[in-house]
Amino acid sequence: MKRPLVAGNWKMNLNRIQAITLAAQVAQQAVHWPTVHVALCPPAVYLDVVGQVLRNSPVALGGQNAHWETAGAFTGELSPTMLVDVGCVFVILGHSERRQHFGETDEMVNRKVKAALESGLRPIVCLGETLQQREEGQTQEVIRAQFAGSLADLSLEEIRQVVLAYEPVWAIGTGKVATPQQAEEVHALLRELLRNKYNEATAQAVTIQYGGSVKPENAAELLSQPNVDGALVGGASLKAQDFLRIVAAAHAVLEEE
Ligand code: 13P
Repeated sequence: MKRPLVAGNWKMNLNRIQAITLAAQVAQQAVHWPTVHVALCPPAVYLDVVGQVLRNSPVALGGQNAHWETAGAFTGELSPTMLVDVGCVFVILGHSERRQHFGETDEMVNRKVKAALESGLRPIVCLGETLQQREEGQTQEVIRAQFAGSLADLSLEEIRQVVLAYEPVWAIGTGKVATPQQAEEVHALLRELLRNKYNEATAQAVTIQYGGSVKPENAAELLSQPNVDGALVGGASLKAQDFLRIVAAAHAVLEEE
């Protein structure tokens, strides 16, 4: 495994004090596992204050969404340059919750990815099938289409800045984690799609995270899969000890290799 990326997606949770406290706990303890790249993605309203807590720590800051324009009359939206301004390195784009509840299409995600890259952010682009699609045997087809659409027209230099996150929709917030084999199958497909579109070195350079009910108990097994390079953690990232146990698991897997 390359240097793993373990990111916490706090979604629409926590208040200001809780956000500060959690970020401080993670920042303090993440120094014990320097082999792991750690990031936190708080709600937008807390980005600035969490960014201040993370300053001078090895933990990176990320947004959960950004618009494709850098400024203008887009009430309620945030531009990628604003995220950079408050210290973000990453931005999650195309999360299934945004695709499902806010009508984001691959085309919109693609525009956002390009704008984020242009602003110097590293997009964490989420892909994944629903339960119905899996049961109907459409997983590969869905992943291929999302890959082609969301990542259209990116240069070799650009795709190297992108992190992919395979998040099967049926595993998100459900406690139903993908088996390591199910995860590896899709991760290997993503690696192959990268290889076919770019080249072997680029395919190997891109970080592919797994997300969907990652917990301290299942993290090591998932992260041991050859094409799983990290985790995008929802629920378990809201408790410092759980999240840090996942970071520790990533470190341990790397050490064993
Ligand atoms: P859970 O870890 O709560 O299943 O959420 C996963 C996720 O959506 C991370 O982006």
